[in-house]
Amino acid sequence: MAPREPRRAGKNASTTRKTQAQARKQTQAQLADKLVYYERAVQDPEVDAQFIARTFRRLRGRPARALREDFCGTASLCAQWVRQDTRNRAYGIDLDRHTLEWGIQTHIAPLAERAAGITLIQQDVREPVAFKADAVAAFNFSYFVFRTRTELRDYFASIKRGLKKDGILYLDLYGGPETMEEREEKTVYDKFTYVWDQAAFNPITHEVTNYIHFEFPDRSVMHKAFTYHWRLWQIPEVQEIAMEAGFRDCLVYWECTDRASGEGNGVFRISRKGDNAPAFVCYLLCV
Ligand SMILES: C[S@@+](CC[C@H](N)C(=O)[O-])C[C@H]1O[C@@H](n2cnc3c(N)ncnc32)[C@H](O)[C@@H]1O
Repeated sequence: MAPREPRRAGKNASTTRKTQAQARKQTQAQLADKLVYYERAVQDPEVDAQFIARTFRRLRGRPARALREDFCGTASLCAQWVRQDTRNRAYGIDLDRHTLEWGIQTHIAPLAERAAGITLIQQDVREPVAFKADAVAAFNFSYFVFRTRTELRDYFASIKRGLKKDGILYLDLYGGPETMEEREEKTVYDKFTYVWDQAAFNPITHEVTNYIHFEFPDRSVMHKAFTYHWRLWQIPEVQEIAMEAGFRDCLVYWECTDRASGEGNGVFRISRKGDNAPAFVCYLLCV
């Protein structure tokens, strides 16, 4: 066994070098760019962009051209929107300079001349803007960051002012009894595992703390890559607040069920009655 082996200078020197090399070798978690893994795990800009284009045309009888992406982060939806149609324009708004710059390098620079169709603005989404949009999208539940009715109403009212007369606000919302449980859910992807950690839920205030962690094949973990202190808003609350802010209606697009598997099939339709799923994600369209 190794500890009993006679000490030999050469062996000791090489062992020391090996140990130093191992110490220098970084784990996959240390080397990973959290924005890359965030996008792979939680975003599907193509699906969102097609949903916006299709529903806007159906509801308004004309195409949406100017899209404003609130809480845009890396602006992947903006990039997809202009890629989808050369006549499209996109405006992304986010507070975080680093994330915006990452999005410029990753999604916007490769668009070459089409990049001219995108404007990124570093500011609070509640601040006024100098343009009117056909559609505003606030996805991945980012508006949950506003935790009082007043804050959420003020935000929706500022969007209303920034929309054309027939403009539409697109939101998504997650809910169901499981979303009020303190639990972790793991999804295995190629070369990493995404962990959605519902760490805390306060039933009195509906305030939640959620984390995203990433696990890697070398067993390293990027712990708390993202942290969210949100209010877990319910559908009727958001609908009522949107109408208080000046929208005429707030339509729910509910996911249809695949008959064979009993699972959601990725098709969302206007619905007044949903199945009582343990957890769901739906779109809300404030019109
Ligand atoms: C959950 S990420 C959403 C990223 C992207 N929209 C998506 O669908 O995945 C939330 C983003 O909102 C930004 N943010 C938070 N509060 C904001 C505010 N009041 N105004 C503008 N951006 C804000 C953060 O910087 C972060 O990039």
